[in-house]
This record gives sequence, structure tokens and C-alpha cells, in this order.
Amino acid sequence: MARILTGITSNNTPHLGNILGAVVPAIQLSKQPENESLFFIADLHSLISQKNASDRIHSVNSVAATWLAFDFDTEKNIFYRQSRIPEVCELTWYLNCFTPYPMLANAHSFKDKSEKLSDVNSGLFTYPVLMAADIILYDAEFIPVGKDQIQHIEMTRDIAAAFNHKYQQEIFVLPKAKIDESVMTIPGTDGQKMSKSYNNFINIFLPEKVLLKVIKSIITDTTPLEEAKNPDTCNVFNIFKLIASSSQIEEMRNNYLKGGYGYGHAKTTLFELIIDKFASPRTKYQTLMNDTSMLEKELQVGELKAKKIAQEKLKQVRAVLGF
Ligand code: ADP
Ligand code: TRP
Repeated sequence: MARILTGITSNNTPHLGNILGAVVPAIQLSKQPENESLFFIADLHSLISQKNASDRIHSVNSVAATWLAFDFDTEKNIFYRQSRIPEVCELTWYLNCFTPYPMLANAHSFKDKSEKLSDVNSGLFTYPVLMAADIILYDAEFIPVGKDQIQHIEMTRDIAAAFNHKYQQEIFVLPKAKIDESVMTIPGTDGQKMSKSYNNFINIFLPEKVLLKVIKSIITDTTPLEEAKNPDTCNVFNIFKLIASSSQIEEMRNNYLKGGYGYGHAKTTLFELIIDKFASPRTKYQTLMNDTSMLEKELQVGELKAKKIAQEKLKQVRAVLGF
């Protein structure tokens, strides 16, 4: 049995990029009978930037509702909030004392973010140590993540290996990043990588009218309606082709090439496809967000399972450390 683990930071509602790039592939992986998956909501990580309590509660519910809306099987697997297993904070402290300062100071993500953000707090600096604790607390073997997270997994391996080596025992499993090469970078409404930070994201759970407005805001060029257009350089087509069937893609491609087909038409078709394709997750998401007691119940069941694993591992760690 392989143990798979991944987390999504709860700093907003997951967007189409998060869903196609992280949620859907991770759920697919969790369906393999030999795998056991631990999927969690990284709410402690969200504190680095999100300080408002009600925003946090909303984001946590929203990330949890997204996993369930896409049918994550919580009975077979383990679904939890990071903060509900505070053992992870204790392990983070121990790991901090095995993490060389330059490893953190030279991390790409820290260098990049510390230049851009106004609030460069110590949480941002030690973020990879909390992430390492998230992983090795549960003996996770495979970590499905985007390419931007590879360095964090390598740091996790280095920290875990340093610890194992110091005590001459295999206390921690060394995890491997699982990068799905077939998953593309989903472009946003402006053609750049879809990201919360660029404010170019599509939230597929929005009410229809608001969602249509977002789709209409996708940036296109000014080629007049009657002229032929290049589908491959168009943001609308590039998003459409990630979710449409091959015959739908072919049809839209032909429409672009033959002319007399405007970007407005393409946007309406994309909007209709999103509504149709995600009809079931949209309904489930709304139901879960309207009454969060179901979410709470599912999470609490998962948290009991996660806690058991965490407590056993910490017992081992405290023993070797002499605490
Ligand atoms: P954001 O850039 O919006 O802050 P995160 O960094 O929180 O997104 O990403 C959460 C997960 O979603 C990661 O696994 C990441 O690789 C994936 N992801 C984010 N944006 C995209 C995208 N545009 N295309 C594919 N995957 C993405
Ligand atoms: N750092 C991840 C992200 O921003 C979220 C995360 C936190 C995570 N802890 C993790 C992912 C452990 C995988 C494993 O996307």
C-alpha cells in the first residue's frame, strides 16, 4: 500500500487551475485500490498571509467543500484540517532544530515571495519546515504537487534524512514528489498562469451571472468578428480545450478558422461548457457551503484517523530525542 499525502493552503476558494492541476489528479490517484490518501487543508500555512478569522473559516470550508464536491472518498482515505492535529506544530519545532538556516534562506519560494510581499514574517521563512512536518508525521511516500513545490519536497527529504542519520534509525520515511507531467499549467483570463496572486482566476462555483461576467472578461485581441482567427493564440480557446471533448474542440477550432465567429460566441460556449461539465460539483459545493455541518462531520472523522497516526509517530520521535 502506498501512502499519498497532499495539502492545499486555504487562502481562498480553489480556482479552475487548482482543480484541474491538483484536486482532480490527486483524487484520481486516491482511487487506485492500493493507495491510501491523506488530503488536508493547510490552514496553519494560511496564517502566513491571512490574518482574518472569518476569511479563514470561509476558505477552510471552501477548500473542504471542493474536495468533497469532486467526490473524494473520505471513508477509504483520510481528510482533515492541518490545525486540528497540533502534533504537527510540535514536530515542526523539532525539525527546525535539524534544518540548516541557509537551506531556508536560499529556498526559491522564500526569495521570490520575500521580495514581493510587504509582510515578510518568520512563518514565511519556516514554511518549508511546517510542510516537512506535514509529510513525515504521517509516513507519506508520494506527494502529488505542482512543479513549484519540488524544492520543498527535496528539503523535506534532506531534513528527514538528517534526523534519521543523527539517530541511526529509520524514524521517518523519505517522501517523493509525484509530478503529473500530463497536467498542463492552466492559463488564466489574461493568458498568464492562472493564480490567486495574479487575480486572473476562474472560480467555477460562482453563481451563473457572475461566472458569465468572469468568462466575458477573458482577454482577447481585436480581430473583427467576420475575420478568421487563430485559435492557438486565443485565451478563450486555450481554456476551452482543457475541458472540452475532442469533437467540441474540433468544432470550435473550425469556427475560429472559418471566420464569422466572434470571441463573444466562443466565450458563451465556454461558459455553457463549464456550467454543463461541472454541474454536479457546483450543486454539491453549494449544498455543502449552505450547511457546513456535513463538512464538519466528515472532517472530524478524518481528524480522528489522522491524530492516531500522528500521536504514534510523535511518541517515537520524543523517545529518540529524550523528551
Ligand atoms: P495559486 O497560484 O492560485 O496561489 P497555489 O499555489 O495555492 O495556487 O496552488 C495549489 C495547487 O494548485 C498546487 O498543487 C498547484 O501546483 C496547483 N495549481 C495552481 N495553479 C495552477 C495552474 N494555473 N495550473 C495547474 N495547476 C495549478
Ligand atoms: N505548500 C503547498 C502549496 O502551497 C501546500 C502544502 C502544505 C502541502 N503542506 C503540504 C502540499 C504538504 C503537499 C504536502 O500548494
